[in-house]
Amino acid sequence: MSTPLLGVSLMDRDHETLDRLFARASETEDAGLPDALEAIATELGAHFAREEALMTEARVPILLCHLELHAQLLREVEKMRDVISSLDTDTARQMVRVILPGLVANHVATADTASASFLR
Ligand SMILES: [Fe+2]
Ligand SMILES: [Fe+2]
Repeated sequence: MSTPLLGVSLMDRDHETLDRLFARASETEDAGLPDALEAIATELGAHFAREEALMTEARVPILLCHLELHAQLLREVEKMRDVISSLDTDTARQMVRVILPGLVANHVATADTASASFLR
């Protein structure tokens, strides 16, 4: 899965980094899934902070809505981190390789795409 480019270098660079982490998670052995989730969680938090700074600086409209979506996504990731060690392998795989990349892809396709139009 490759994230569409939005024409905003910080966003595109960071989204590509996340894509690489998701690709790595899909190749990692099952025992490595918690570590893969940790790496994704850390990068996602750092990405959101950079993206928020950029949008704040540029006074992007409906910023609070975008910030809330980031906070919601980070809360979902926190829940995943809390439960991953107690999940069966199939469910853990599904969560890290399908559900989480899907949530991020959906965020990029909606909130990020809307905000990017004010950053180009
Ligand atoms: Fe983003
Ligand atoms: Fe975003």
